[in-house]
Amino acid sequence: MNVDRIELPRPDDWHLHLRDGAALGELVAHSARQFGRAIVMPNLRPPITSVAMALAYRERILAAVPAGLAFEPLMTLYLTPKTTTADIDAAVACPYVHGVKLYPAGATTNADSGVRDLDGVDTVLSAMAAGGLPLLVHAESIDPQVDVFDREAVFVRETLSRVVERHPQLRLVVEHVSTAQAVDWVRDAPAHVGATITAHHLLYDRNAMFQGGIRPHLYCLPVLKRARHRQALVAAATSGNPKFFLGTDSAPHERSTKETGCGCAGTFTAHAALELYAEVFDRAGALDRLAGFASRFGPGFYGLPVATDRVTLERQAWTVPASYPLGALGEGELVPLRAGEEMAWRLVAADAIR
Ligand code: DOR
Ligand code: ZN
Repeated sequence: MNVDRIELPRPDDWHLHLRDGAALGELVAHSARQFGRAIVMPNLRPPITSVAMALAYRERILAAVPAGLAFEPLMTLYLTPKTTTADIDAAVACPYVHGVKLYPAGATTNADSGVRDLDGVDTVLSAMAAGGLPLLVHAESIDPQVDVFDREAVFVRETLSRVVERHPQLRLVVEHVSTAQAVDWVRDAPAHVGATITAHHLLYDRNAMFQGGIRPHLYCLPVLKRARHRQALVAAATSGNPKFFLGTDSAPHERSTKETGCGCAGTFTAHAALELYAEVFDRAGALDRLAGFASRFGPGFYGLPVATDRVTLERQAWTVPASYPLGALGEGELVPLRAGEEMAWRLVAADAIR
């Protein structure tokens, strides 16, 4: 059956970068148009390491929500070697903090305050397991000897397996899975271990990064992998398995920091996230499974209610702008995924507009 219109409970983004300061207004607007809630990543400078910082950041985000839109930021803390069990107890007690992000030190953008030695945070992980607070993991090895395309598989095999063995009750999300090995590992792990999958990892393999020349806007971390890994991600996302849910990892960087001699990692997808995911599910003949992946499984994992309001997507062509403004004074710009290209699906109605 050729479906041209789909209605879903309003989806949430379970992995998002909103940044801070002058860029916040535009970035919050992109996400609030698409999603009801988002897990907001803490990799600011300085990182969000305490409940007090998370609450202040939350207020700044709420102040940036455009009039007429409802958007709830779900805050996270940044795990550092200095994080204490008291920090965790405070996070567990705070209704606005929903997870703690583990960045292996130096693994990605603003990850230098992260953790090098997981044994050093063992008591913190125990406190999280006891309090039911999820650990959100950037799962890549930081051993410089490990090939960049193997870093996720090595980290999952060598490090995550050990974490789950030591902390069998710890709720854990492998963020932005990019390999068949990570998919298999999550599938075989206990029910309280899940994974987010981005639209760009579902749509592109590593060839796309080099098509006709180097494409810096497709450079993200974990880096895009071979076609067979992309196929494994599509199979997982469209399988109906509730362990796999939507997380865009939409990661804005100003144009000049991407199109340069040493460009930042990150792909911006928040402008058209649902349309991009709809394309994936449509191509896989699995549009009937999009609502589970985008709207139901994430709330299930985090113990939150599924949205009662709805959004509608239609098969309708539109062209993505070449860029979007970034920064209150319009001094910067953001090159979105599919800039200047045509999209097959369009978000036409979101009844969360109040
Ligand atoms: O591509 C990425 N960009 N991966 C990350 O893990 C971080 C993110 C960012 O903050 O720019
Ligand atoms: Zn991220």
